[in-house]
Amino acid sequence: MEESQFLINHYSSKLEQGKFTWESPSNIALVKYWGKKEDQIPENPSISFTLDTCKTKTTLSFRKKAKKDNGFSFELFFDGKQKADFKPKIETFLTRIERYLPFLKDYHFKIETSNTFPHSSGIASSASGMSALALCFMSIENEMTPDMSQEYFIKKASFLARLGSGSACRSIEGDLIVWGQHNEIEESSDFYGIKYPFEVHENFKNYQDTILLVDKGEKQVSSTVGHNLMHGHPFSEKRFNQANENISNLIKALKSGDLDGFIQIMESEALTLHAMMMTSLPYFILMKPNTLEIINRIWKFRKETGLHIGFTLDAGANVHVLYPETEADKIYEFIKNELVAYCENDQYIRDKVGKGAKLLI
Ligand code: PMV
Repeated sequence: MEESQFLINHYSSKLEQGKFTWESPSNIALVKYWGKKEDQIPENPSISFTLDTCKTKTTLSFRKKAKKDNGFSFELFFDGKQKADFKPKIETFLTRIERYLPFLKDYHFKIETSNTFPHSSGIASSASGMSALALCFMSIENEMTPDMSQEYFIKKASFLARLGSGSACRSIEGDLIVWGQHNEIEESSDFYGIKYPFEVHENFKNYQDTILLVDKGEKQVSSTVGHNLMHGHPFSEKRFNQANENISNLIKALKSGDLDGFIQIMESEALTLHAMMMTSLPYFILMKPNTLEIINRIWKFRKETGLHIGFTLDAGANVHVLYPETEADKIYEFIKNELVAYCENDQYIRDKVGKGAKLLI
């Protein structure tokens, strides 16, 4: 069993106390993960660009409990303030990962976390947040298991992050990550993300992502609810097959540098994700009028200029505008002049593809 490699029954030393800080990025899926089985196993493989600017910084301090008891002990601070409403999510995460990190009930933890992107910007922080926390726990385990390889460290961090939030397993490394078993990608796994193993054309190096914040409110539908709507969905099987095919086609586009082909797959994936939500029961429309306005303007500008501007969406109204670095000047001008007006309070984030998480202390 692939999972059993992450079980550990002995630590060569135990720590009294300590502290680690990791900074971990968000990521944007090109082929989407939407639908999961038990234990955060995806129904189809997905592939994402790791981002650079949108990050979560997490400091985990720990001290040994006087006596081990049967519960988890932790405090949680977000932007310096206690955050009681995030605690149940962390409690669930700890319960899921305890099998793989048997030291968790031996310590009291203080988790201090903050995001580089604006608070309640509508940008999901679960990928960056859960990956940063998973990495902090792995740093503790690494101190107690000094002969751990770097490769194992990364793999297990991704494995643990997945149990916090599926897409978080794609936030450990950069710049392109595959998660979920695909028959053309030998090393791919449903349990953790891996670095995209094939040739990538220059056109996709340093790819740009400007995130337009159309709706900064709370998500209308949580991703847990969204994933569940794929159970018994009339089109789910077709969709899961399509995601596999889209990855096969993306492999070709990434290799040859086919920007038009890349954009077609990426945009179709975004619209399919939204179509799944429109055709589930209950049904949801996650786009806002300004989302559509932006999409139409992107298409018009692309047609008029021949520039390679494209979009993708997460399960919400915000638009990720993606474009090659070589065309960045003209496209960024267009975004500022014509698209930003459709954002809530003119807010947007200029991001690009990044290299993955970093240990700060
Ligand atoms: O990681 P979750 O459970 O929040 O799911 C994320 C799903 C999408 O962001 C919509 C798609 C993806 O692959 O990231």
